[in-house]
Amino acid sequence: MLGLNLDPWCSAVISIIGAGRVGTAAALVALLRGLDDKIVLVDIVPGLAQGEALDLAHAASTLGVDIEIVGSEDFSAIRGSSIVLVTAGKPRKPGMTREQLLADNAAIVADIASKIKQYAPDSIVLMTTNPLDAMVYVMYKKLGFPRERVIGFSGVLDSARLAYYASRKLKVSPSSITPIVVGMHGEAMYPVPRLSTVGGIPLTQLLSPSEIEDVVRETVQAGATVTKLRGYSSNYAPGAGLVLMAEAIKRDSKRTFIASVYLDGEYGVSDVVAEIPVILGRRGVERILELPLNDEEKQGFLKSVEAVRALINALPEEYRK
Ligand code: 2OP
Repeated sequence: MLGLNLDPWCSAVISIIGAGRVGTAAALVALLRGLDDKIVLVDIVPGLAQGEALDLAHAASTLGVDIEIVGSEDFSAIRGSSIVLVTAGKPRKPGMTREQLLADNAAIVADIASKIKQYAPDSIVLMTTNPLDAMVYVMYKKLGFPRERVIGFSGVLDSARLAYYASRKLKVSPSSITPIVVGMHGEAMYPVPRLSTVGGIPLTQLLSPSEIEDVVRETVQAGATVTKLRGYSSNYAPGAGLVLMAEAIKRDSKRTFIASVYLDGEYGVSDVVAEIPVILGRRGVERILELPLNDEEKQGFLKSVEAVRALINALPEEYRK
């Protein structure tokens, strides 16, 4: 008998909770990038996850991709998952802020946390549910997992947007830009143009102050712009970003991302969640990177963090412990 040492990761399963636009975008990107050999989609809407999984399975068959994709209304389907992507929750509508989703989505996240604790207690959780930073806080408190295994996806999106808008001014590829956006995933987010670079050169040396202002404004407003134009919020970019983070964890890449993480003294703040640069590997957040912020940037970051803390404090008590 072959001494098969099936490393738990080689039979890893990626589960996606929420078969809405973000969840199915993540599932499609995972399929196209061969993220795993099994993807589980779960949604409470009868038939939704099953139907989406079936269409995705047909896509896999069309593309010649060997992957098992299953859909279920039963959370036990996530049993044994190594990574769980949480995309469930009410999305914002045109004109709404992410913060207006606070109470409704806190209840949804708390319920999902109980299911993950039950069926995937060793998993790493990545989430997109808004208002993101406050929802990561609820998930962290309710799961009781180490903070490195409870990660918010939003910094990847905000920083990718900064790179996109700056690239259009500079006429370079967005991939040539190392963007830095920290703090809150919301109107109070804090882009850091001085530490965002092209080939090592800060954006502040390549763009005029008014161009920087344009790029920052477009980045902050990007989510609302997408929602206003098409009537519903982003899904392709969050789906793609979730899969990139899941890949880094599954492949133990030790890759840097801007992610929302529970802070415990880093940057001089505690008991709050904020977007900061981290290194992702098989244990989840393997390192938190402290940026060399100057005094003005420190103030901007802390102001953004306090906006998150105000949102956390506005949560019903039951979701803050
Ligand atoms: C966004 O910024 C939905 O919060 C997400 O597009």
